[in-house]
Amino acid sequence: MRDRASQTAEAVCLIRAREHLRAADQRIVDDPFAQSFLSPAGRLGLAAAAGAPHLADVAQQLSSGLGTFVLARHRVLDDWLAIDLQDGSPDGSPDGSPDGSSDGSVEQVVVLGAGYDTRAWRFADALRGRPVFEVDHPATARRKTRFVAGKGQDWPAVNRKVVECDFQVESVPQELARAGFDPGLRTAWIWEGVTMYLRRAAVDRTLRDIATHSAVGSSLGMDLWFLLDDPDLRASFLRASTSLLSVLGEPITFGLHPDDAEDFLARRGLKLEAGVDAGELQRRVVPDGRAVYPAIWCCRARVLGQG
Ligand SMILES: C[S@@+](CC[C@H](N)C(=O)[O-])C[C@H]1O[C@@H](n2cnc3c(N)ncnc32)[C@H](O)[C@@H]1O
Repeated sequence: MRDRASQTAEAVCLIRAREHLRAADQRIVDDPFAQSFLSPAGRLGLAAAAGAPHLADVAQQLSSGLGTFVLARHRVLDDWLAIDLQDGSPDGSPDGSPDGSSDGSVEQVVVLGAGYDTRAWRFADALRGRPVFEVDHPATARRKTRFVAGKGQDWPAVNRKVVECDFQVESVPQELARAGFDPGLRTAWIWEGVTMYLRRAAVDRTLRDIATHSAVGSSLGMDLWFLLDDPDLRASFLRASTSLLSVLGEPITFGLHPDDAEDFLARRGLKLEAGVDAGELQRRVVPDGRAVYPAIWCCRARVLGQG
């Protein structure tokens, strides 16, 4: 087990905090809480970006749009969550069909590998008291808890449950159950920026757990890295550059190509409902033509019943 908080979690949090500095109509996603979780080094980075926004834009170019991808996936997963939280029928009761094909309101939300995700606060109104279970590696979960304890009073009151769990070695359903999670309820699962850091066995187990520990029609929003097969220099650079994350102790280890996802998910009790690649992300949610990293895609799936 790692004993220090995730650095990639802070990196993506910094990207969201920086986006909050843009004019409101230029933001891909708006997270006013993100800056609260930054370390002194992160705050320095944010101040530098605020002081020299053009340099920050150059850094974004050099990363081949990774920062924009991070924002765009967050936005798309936000949009999917907003749909899941809408009432499923005029009287407010969930009305998902047995095959899970229609959108009905969910009764609980699980954020797997939550890092400094702030949806519990940003969606406080739409959640209307429904619980948000934030599952993460203990080191990251505890750091977040320390920061929330210091700032929480000024933020919306939320029904947030912290669940410490290492996906590689511990059982997600078991740890969730301890926190009061009900596997019989319709659930929105969010698994953002995590699968690529896991071994295949952990991804496999977690998807099966999702399919067997939440009601039919529950949703899953996640993103998946895949190997670009273009032989050109840019793609070769992107393939090589993923190895750099090993330096942070969080190497890329798992990928799934969009073309292979339907079968992969079906074998684990999930139905692929939508796939959104870099081009589609750019069209949907990037207002100013910023480039989007091409080797990760967002995926929405539904629990079919028998996992
Ligand atoms: C890139 S961060 C994404 C955080 C958050 N989902 C977001 O988008 O802001 C990856 C997250 O996965 C978590 N993670 C990675 N490996 C994990 C594991 N084996 N068990 C539990 N969490 C893990 C890290 O602690 C970190 O919070």
